[in-house]
Amino acid sequence: MVAGKRPLGWPLLVALTNGRTGISDERLAAAVRDKVILVTGSSYGIGEATARRLAAAGATVLLVARTADQLQLVADDIRSRGGTAYVYPANLADPDAIEELVRTVLAEHERVDVLVNNAGKSIRRSIADTYQRFHDIERTNAVNYLGPAKLVLELLPSMRERGSGHIVNVSTAGVRTPPMARWSAYLASKSAFDVWLRCVAQEVRGDGVTTSTVYMGLVHTRMSEPTPLLNKMPGLTPEQAADQVCTAVAERPHNITPPFVRPADALGNLLRVPTDRLLEQYFRRTGGGKKR
Ligand SMILES: NC(=O)c1ccc[n+]([C@@H]2O[C@H](COP(=O)([O-])OP(=O)(O)OC[C@H]3O[C@@H](n4cnc5c(N)ncnc54)[C@H](OP(=O)(O)O)[C@@H]3O)[C@@H](O)[C@H]2O)c1
Repeated sequence: MVAGKRPLGWPLLVALTNGRTGISDERLAAAVRDKVILVTGSSYGIGEATARRLAAAGATVLLVARTADQLQLVADDIRSRGGTAYVYPANLADPDAIEELVRTVLAEHERVDVLVNNAGKSIRRSIADTYQRFHDIERTNAVNYLGPAKLVLELLPSMRERGSGHIVNVSTAGVRTPPMARWSAYLASKSAFDVWLRCVAQEVRGDGVTTSTVYMGLVHTRMSEPTPLLNKMPGLTPEQAADQVCTAVAERPHNITPPFVRPADALGNLLRVPTDRLLEQYFRRTGGGKKR
């Protein structure tokens, strides 16, 4: 939806559905000044906005994504504003590249205080359109589950040894609300890492390593842009989303969850069959009814 055409009260609707955002510059600076923070997926979108905000607050940010040129642009801009940023191009779908990344980062910075696991890949596609595309499932899992898990495996030993570390996972509200047709590959991969990290969190908290999960609502980025329906829905800007991620970095909450998610989660569990039937009808009404 074009900004000028949005109805009156749109910002309120965005706040009601996605939660208020906002951590003061002072509070953020007090929490992250001189911390080494690795942000995956920081070439675009939420990750880029998060890295910029953290660097402006005095953190040393390590920028990780595949697009080296774009990472360099972000780093140059951060530095031109007085911040500290380093670029580490890497494909997080490649376990060897992750090993190399962590070896280099620990050699050059000695530690990572905070990992922001933000890089992600989204696919919205019906199962009929996926028959010849098993790679959709492989690729979403590689970026949204296996890559992040490998990165945590590589970083955890040094965090536990130091007795401190924080992992912020940028997840999606979709893993807490009833599963929806067409989102199978994406939501299954995001759910897998969410559950994996929650199990791991119980094992490492005693060693000073904490985790926070941001169950992010809709954010208008290049990820959501190809889905016309999402463009019309109330969503956050990347900067507002980065505010939520930065709040998680600074305050280390167990999770940050948009207001609509808790009732939807509870209702979806309580009324699982009718909810699935309702969503099935929605799928059929929106062109998903044809047998293939
Ligand atoms: N947008 C939303 O509505 C929304 C809602 C809920 C949750 N989220 C989550 O928020 C996170 C960020 O999404 P976004 O909306 O900011 O999307 P985005 O603008 O498309 O950014 C995705 C980032 O991930 C990086 N990335 C993708 N594949 C990678 C790979 N194989 N190796 C390394 N980096 C990779 C991309 O960089 P390169 O292409 O340069 O590698 C890019 O920096 C994702 O985890 C997503 O699931 C988004």
